[in-house]
Amino acid sequence: MAYLLTLLCLSVYAIKDVQSLHMYVTNNGPAVVGSKITFTAVVTDYNSEYLKYSFYDNAQPQHQNSYINSTGIMKWTVEYPRSLYEAGEYTVTVYLMQDYSGFWIHETSNSTTFNLTASLNGKLKLSQSDQLRPNKYVAVNQPVSHYVELPDNEIEFLKRNASRVVTYWFIDCALIDQTTDFSLNYTYTDLLGDHYIEALVVADNEPLPPLTTTTTTTTTTTTTTTTTTTTTTTTTTPTPKPQSSSLSPVNLTNDTLPVHKLVRRAISNKTTKDSPANFVCYNTSIVPIGNKYTYGHYQETIKVAEPVSTINISGLNWLQHGDLLRLHVKYSGTPPFQYCVQYKVGQYNVTGNETCNTMSQTNSTEFPLIHYFSGSDQHTVVVIIQNLVTKNVTRATINIYKVTVHAQLSVIVVPVVFCLLAVILVVFGIAYYQHRSRYTIEVADFDFGQAYLDYKTFSERLRDSFRNAFNFRQDDTDPLSSNTRYNSMT
Ligand SMILES: *[C@@H]1O[C@H](CO)[C@@H](O)[C@H](O)[C@H]1NC(C)=O
Ligand SMILES: *[C@@H]1O[C@H](CO)[C@@H](O)[C@H](O)[C@H]1NC(C)=O
Ligand SMILES: *[C@@H]1O[C@H](CO)[C@@H](O)[C@H](O)[C@H]1NC(C)=O
Ligand SMILES: *[C@@H]1O[C@H](CO)[C@@H](O)[C@H](O)[C@H]1NC(C)=O
Ligand SMILES: *[C@@H]1O[C@H](CO)[C@@H](O)[C@H](O)[C@H]1NC(C)=O
Ligand SMILES: *[C@@H]1O[C@H](CO)[C@@H](O)[C@H](O)[C@H]1NC(C)=O
Ligand SMILES: *[C@@H]1O[C@H](CO)[C@@H](O)[C@H](O)[C@H]1NC(C)=O
Ligand SMILES: *[C@@H]1O[C@H](CO)[C@@H](O)[C@H](O)[C@H]1NC(C)=O
Ligand SMILES: *[C@@H]1O[C@H](CO)[C@@H](O)[C@H](O)[C@H]1NC(C)=O
Ligand SMILES: *[C@@H]1O[C@H](CO)[C@@H](O)[C@H](O)[C@H]1NC(C)=O
Ligand SMILES: *[C@@H]1O[C@H](CO)[C@@H](O)[C@H](O)[C@H]1NC(C)=O
Ligand SMILES: *[C@@H]1O[C@H](CO)[C@@H](O)[C@H](O)[C@H]1NC(C)=O
Repeated sequence: MAYLLTLLCLSVYAIKDVQSLHMYVTNNGPAVVGSKITFTAVVTDYNSEYLKYSFYDNAQPQHQNSYINSTGIMKWTVEYPRSLYEAGEYTVTVYLMQDYSGFWIHETSNSTTFNLTASLNGKLKLSQSDQLRPNKYVAVNQPVSHYVELPDNEIEFLKRNASRVVTYWFIDCALIDQTTDFSLNYTYTDLLGDHYIEALVVADNEPLPPLTTTTTTTTTTTTTTTTTTTTTTTTTTPTPKPQSSSLSPVNLTNDTLPVHKLVRRAISNKTTKDSPANFVCYNTSIVPIGNKYTYGHYQETIKVAEPVSTINISGLNWLQHGDLLRLHVKYSGTPPFQYCVQYKVGQYNVTGNETCNTMSQTNSTEFPLIHYFSGSDQHTVVVIIQNLVTKNVTRATINIYKVTVHAQLSVIVVPVVFCLLAVILVVFGIAYYQHRSRYTIEVADFDFGQAYLDYKTFSERLRDSFRNAFNFRQDDTDPLSSNTRYNSMT
């Protein structure tokens, strides 16, 4: 009998083991007291059976609730009103039960811890050109959007239970502006190192009552005494000429700047104490502290830097095939710089989001670019330079021309042409001389012939004339025989 029971138990445990579930619980905290917190239980490997989720927190008064559902995810949202709960760390435990033929059998449990905080959570964020700054650097002379990003549940709380929310913005302890949208646009125009940014979010759950302030303009007491006396109590007015002002969005000026000091001191004494800017800022005072307000204090030390700009790529961009590309890249901006170069075949339009796996580091505002292109084509050199504030992508188009075409022209064609010219000159020269000598011979012959002929005719004529004179007798050689007869006559 006992044997059977153990067997039964073992088999039950075996079944349970097979079906054992795992659950984890998360929350969307931390959140300021007054907010709602949502807890999420997730069963990872459930088998579509009905599950019972029982939620408990360890706050006083305690919250608890149970849900039966067939889904593997169950959410539980709890509100912690400011009137009932204090800031602190709390735990929520979830018990998971599974249905075994009408019986809820405990499967597993898990828990999550969360913090209810006295002041608002969230972060101070900076963005420039609609892009979130990934670091503490901002570009000079470009508007910086500062904004406080609160968790959803705190925004919901403020909407539900705050008639007005004002954010006071301080830069280097000077009140710059107060806004109702948690944001500030500001342009830094100097490169003089760091700036200490503070945002003070003040939400009033009811219309704000006037708050007593003391200003630096009341000079009868030292600032030190003013500080100590006013920190202790809200309503004390230790100086003879106290001025009244309210923490409303209505013209808070640098005169009422002390408001900020004490608010800050009261709400986050320990967080700001170490900041050197804190001591600079500490000179006066008031304490607008009470349960009617919800505060958020955010601070950041930022650095202003010059973006990478005026990129100038110089050098030859018409290259003979086989020649090395030698370019010089010059730019301005705040070091250190990171750069890389990409070589693309053909025309390439930069998108601006080109990236390299590895980038060279430099503090110099120039670098040389030497590259060998194996192909003879058009290429685009894409130069990516970035510093801590911006990234700039520029390009240069490189044209490579075939060396051989030009070599034939200059090295072969020209000499060949000149050789041909020389040959032609020589040939023509010889031909000319030959022609000329032939011509002169011919002329000489001709002249000679003609002269000879002329001379001949002339001499002939002469002779003829002479002969004419004597020719009859001479002609009559036969009658010459009768010359004796003429002689005899003369
Ligand atoms: C409880 O949740 C954690 C993760 O949040 C997990 O590592 C752990 O195994 C869970 N415990 C049980 C009993 O499921
Ligand atoms: C289970 O949860 C879902 C969503 O949370 C809900 O729509 C559904 O009605 C629940 N089922 C039961 C039986 O409660
Ligand atoms: C709650 O706040 C305390 C003190 O700031 C911190 O040590 C703890 O880690 C926080 N707990 C959670 C769950 O964030
Ligand atoms: C709003 O805040 C006031 C003051 O803390 C509190 O009395 C009131 O209960 C809050 N209302 C809600 C809805 O949380
Ligand atoms: C801040 O600048 C952004 C864009 O640059 C603009 O949308 C926003 O309205 C500005 N806010 C204020 C308060 O001027
Ligand atoms: C404050 O603003 C109000 C109107 O909003 C104006 O009437 C008043 O003169 C201002 N005070 C100062 C000191 O600027
Ligand atoms: C406060 O002083 C700073 C610098 O002195 C100035 O830039 C700023 O505009 C002033 N703010 C107000 C609200 O007068
Ligand atoms: C803030 O710190 C000062 C000394 O640094 C101390 O006198 C004061 O009591 C503190 N205030 C609070 C609210 O803790
Ligand atoms: C990159 O630098 C050029 C000048 O070299 C400038 O015209 C351009 O606007 C810069 N681009 C970016 C995204 O800053
Ligand atoms: C680059 O841009 C110009 C003008 O926008 C366009 O005509 C050209 O086709 C583009 N080239 C490439 C390779 O996309
Ligand atoms: C770069 O931007 C273009 C459009 O501008 C987009 O098509 C491309 O996917 C982006 N590339 C990277 C690596 O983000
Ligand atoms: C650039 O300068 C900084 C500070 O002078 C130095 O720490 C860093 O090593 C330098 N980087 C390079 C690549 O020279």
